[in-house]
Amino acid sequence: MTTRTLVTCALPYANGPVHLGHMVEHVQTDLYVRYLRSRGDDVVFLCADDTHGAPIELNALKQGVSPEEFVARWAGEHQKDFADFQISFDHYGSTNSPENRHYAELIYGRAKAAGSIVRKDVEQPYDEKSKRWLSDRFIRGTCPNCGAPDQYGDACEKCNATYTPRELKDARSAISGEPLTWKKSSHLFFALSKHEAFLRAQLAKPGFTHPGPAAQLGQFFDKGLADWDITRDGPYFGFQIPGEDNKYFYVWLDAPIGYIASCEQWAKKTGKAKDALEYWDESSNARIVHVIGKDIVYFHCLFWPAVLHVARLKLPEYVHIHGHLTVNGEKMSKSRGTFINARPYLDLLDPNYLRFYYASLLGPGPEDLDFNLTEFRQRVNAELVNNLGNLANRTLSLLARPELGKKLAPPKPELGKGLVEKALARVPEIAQAFGSFDHRTAVKAILEVGYAANQFLTQHEPWKTIKHDVEGARAVLSEAAEVVYLLTALLDPIVPQLAGKLTAQLGRAGLTFKALDGAKYPLLDRAVAIGEPSPLISRLEEAQVARLIAAPPEAAKPAPAPQAKKEQKDAKGPAAPPAEIEYDDFAKVQLKAGKVLAAEKVEKADKLLKLTIDLGEGAPRTIVSGIAEAYAPEAVTGKRVVVVANLKPRPLRGIESRGMILTAGPGGKDLVLLDPGDVPPGSDVK
Ligand code: MSP
Ligand code: ZN
Repeated sequence: MTTRTLVTCALPYANGPVHLGHMVEHVQTDLYVRYLRSRGDDVVFLCADDTHGAPIELNALKQGVSPEEFVARWAGEHQKDFADFQISFDHYGSTNSPENRHYAELIYGRAKAAGSIVRKDVEQPYDEKSKRWLSDRFIRGTCPNCGAPDQYGDACEKCNATYTPRELKDARSAISGEPLTWKKSSHLFFALSKHEAFLRAQLAKPGFTHPGPAAQLGQFFDKGLADWDITRDGPYFGFQIPGEDNKYFYVWLDAPIGYIASCEQWAKKTGKAKDALEYWDESSNARIVHVIGKDIVYFHCLFWPAVLHVARLKLPEYVHIHGHLTVNGEKMSKSRGTFINARPYLDLLDPNYLRFYYASLLGPGPEDLDFNLTEFRQRVNAELVNNLGNLANRTLSLLARPELGKKLAPPKPELGKGLVEKALARVPEIAQAFGSFDHRTAVKAILEVGYAANQFLTQHEPWKTIKHDVEGARAVLSEAAEVVYLLTALLDPIVPQLAGKLTAQLGRAGLTFKALDGAKYPLLDRAVAIGEPSPLISRLEEAQVARLIAAPPEAAKPAPAPQAKKEQKDAKGPAAPPAEIEYDDFAKVQLKAGKVLAAEKVEKADKLLKLTIDLGEGAPRTIVSGIAEAYAPEAVTGKRVVVVANLKPRPLRGIESRGMILTAGPGGKDLVLLDPGDVPPGSDVK
C-alpha cells in the first residue's frame, strides 16, 4: 500500500479577504498535491478558516453581528476565492467546529494528565471601561525608544523597537482610549520548557524543516524556552477551557488543532478514514506535510510539535516554509494600491496566469518572491502564451486543416523519436522538482521541452510543406503532437485547466506522471484522431495588468464582509463625500429603466425586498434592494424604477442579486424610488 500523505496550508484568519500573498502558499501547495496525485499517491489536502481570537470578536462586535455570523461570511468568500484559483482541497473546515472543540479538549486533557499544564498568576493590562483584557495589538501609546506617538503595545512601526506594554509611554486602550490598568488573573501555561530536549532533537532531524529558519529558532533555546500562555480571559471568541471559569483557549492553541479537525470532517464526509486519528495517532504511518509562511515558524516548529508530542499524536514529517510576496519590489500596501485581494484579481485576470507566474518563481527555500507586474506580463506572454501555447496551437490547428482532417500519421521514429525521447528524459527531474516544492526548476525544464519542440517545427516548417507534401507535414505535426501530449501531464499540476483543455483538444484521456513512469515513444495512439483545437490562452496586455493596481478602491478596500458594508459605514458616522471622478468612469455605469413585476420580503432581513424586474432583456432580473422600510411589497409592484444594470451579480442573504435600484433620500423609511417616467423597460437612462 502506498503511504498516505496529508498536506495542509496554514489556516487563513476569518477576518478579511484572502489576498495574493495567501495565494503564494495555496498555489505552491496545490501544485505539490496535484503532482502527488498524478503520480498515484494517496493524498488528502486540507485547510480551514482560523476563526477565533480577540480581533475577530471585536470586528464582529463593530459590525453588529455575532462572531459566528461574521466568520461564516468569510468562510464562504474564502472558499469561493480558492475554488476559482483551482486550489483542489479535499476539505475546507473551520476551527469553530465541534470537531475542533473535541480535539482541543482531548489534547488539553492529555497535556494536563502528562503534567505539561501549569498554572501561574499573571498581571495583565485591562480596560476598565470596556471591561476587556487587552492584547498588545489593542494597546496604543508613545514609543519609549523614538517617541513616535500612537504605536502598538509590543513594537514601534517607526523605529522597529520591540518592548512590553509596561514600557510604552502613556499606554491606552485602543478600544476605549482609557489608560491601562493592570490586573491579576490566573492563567494556564503549556510547559514548553519541559520539552526542550525533544524539540532540539526534532529540529535537528534532517528534512524536518529548512535549516535557516530552524537555526533562527535557536535564539529561543538560548534564552531558555518560556512556558506558553494558552489562556485568554473572557470575553473572547473561542473554546472555553474545561473546568475553568470564563477562561478560553488562546487562538493559537486551537488553530493548528484545526488541521486535525478538518481531517476528521473530511473523514466523516467521505468515509475514506474512520476518523482523524487514522492519520494523527502517533502510531499512524501517514506522512504529514505542513506548508506555512515564514512568519509563523515559531508556532509550527516549536509549540505544535511539543503539543503533538505530549498528546501522543503524529508529528509532521516536513514543515515547508515559504517566503513572503512583495508587489513591484515592496511590501504590499493598501495606500499604494498594491494590496491585491484574490477577488479583484479574479475579476480582472485569468487565474492560470498567476498560477504559472508563481510556479516560475517559487523555489524550495523560504526566500521572498516579487510580483513584478512587468515581468509577470512578459513571462506569461513569452513562456505560457508564445512557447507552450503556440506550440500546441500551431501543431493542432495545422492538423485540423481540411487537408489533414485531424488525422495523425503512423510513428516515424527517424523523424521524431529523438525529440520525444529527449523530452521524456526530462520527466524524472521535473517530477523531482514538483515533489520538493522546487516549482521553478520544473517550469524551466518544461519550457525547454517546449522550446525544443518549437525548434523542431521551425526546422521542418510544416506550414510550408503542407502545400506540396501533405503526408510529410502530417508526419512532422504528429511527432510534435507527442510533445504536446507529454506537456499535458507536465503542466497539469501548474495549470490544470489548461492541461485539461489541451488534453481535450488532442482527443485523449488525461496523461499522468504515473503513466509516464517507464513510458516510451510513441505516446500517442496514432490511429485516434485529434479533437477540436482552439488557442490555449490569450496574451496579457499591459493595460489589463495595470488595472490590478490602478483599481485601489476595489483592490485595497479594508474589506468588510459583503453584507456588512452598510453597518460598518453607519458605525463610523456619515462617510466623507466621494472624490471627483472622470467622465470615463461614469460612462462605465449603465442605467436603465425597469418595471417591477413582483416584490416579496426577504426572510430574516427587515430592510430588504426581493424584486423581480423587467429590464427588457427577455428573462426578468432578481434584485435585492434595501427599500423594505419605505415600501411594502404591494406598493412597489408595477412601479417603474431606474436600475444600475451592469453591476456584477452578488449574493445577498443567499439570493443572487444583479443590479441596483436608484433611490433618493436619507434612507430607512425616508426613501423614494426614482421614477424614469412611462418609458418601455430597458430604455437607457442618461
Ligand atoms: N491564522 C494564522 C495561521 C494559523 S495555522 C494553524 C495566520 N493566518 S494568515 O491569514 O495571517 O496567514 C495565512 C498564511 O498566509 C500564513 O502561512 C502566512 O505566512 C501566509 N501569508 C500571509 N501573507 C503573505 C504574503 N504576503 N506572502 C506569502 N504568504 C503570506 O497566520
Ligand atoms: Zn519607535
